[in-house]
Amino acid sequence: MCQTKPYILDTDLLHVQITENIHRELDQVLQDSSAIKYEDRKRLPYTNAVIHEIQRFGNIAATGTMRSSIKDITLDGYSIKKGMHILPNLDSVLHDPVCWDKPDKFNPEHFLDKAGNFKSNEAFLPFSAGHRVCLGEKLARFELVIFFITLMRAFRFQLPKGVTEVNTKYIAKMTLQPQPFKVQPIPPQELEEQAEEPR
Ligand code: HEM
Repeated sequence: MCQTKPYILDTDLLHVQITENIHRELDQVLQDSSAIKYEDRKRLPYTNAVIHEIQRFGNIAATGTMRSSIKDITLDGYSIKKGMHILPNLDSVLHDPVCWDKPDKFNPEHFLDKAGNFKSNEAFLPFSAGHRVCLGEKLARFELVIFFITLMRAFRFQLPKGVTEVNTKYIAKMTLQPQPFKVQPIPPQELEEQAEEPR
């Protein structure tokens, strides 16, 4: 999960409009309430959609763990013999053009209906599925919501002076990892002061 967190910052930096939308929603819905609860995501459809899209677009597990068939079966026209090894390709389903409008673009609308309500998608499987599904899924989901909203309320993120690009190509190791990158967190009051300064 600690790899998903840098992706959060990484993706956020590249999408100024999306960041603005998140800040607007958080300001309107949460106002000055100090503590954030996991349940708050239900009142924050846009922010929730962004968190899901970060996990879809920046998925950290390309595959699930190896399975082995316990009997001969035919699945979707494919014949699978007993004892055959199967590696679930999660990257493929998270970028499947049949399931996602713009699979290769960062697009929170993948998780929003026309009215702006959150909508789920059965192809959203970053934690895999079935008996071997990620045991930490609930904890990870909980942490991502709390972590992301807390950071977004505390800071505006921008690229440091002179940096114009972030390399979004992942590094493939046991998991898919983001490239190192620099980020400048700015507290909102500092931004206001900057805006008030005479030019
Ligand atoms: C964003 C964060 C995370 C993602 C995307 C993720 C994803 C995955 C995936 C794809 C698998 C393979 C499942 C399969 O083979 O079908 C897995 C397995 C597993 N995950 Fe996670 N995981 C995350 C966080 C965590 C956390 C926080 C914990 C523990 C606190 C955890 C514990 C496990 C365990 C124990 C397994 C092995 C389950 C088994 O083989 O039966 N994961 N995870």
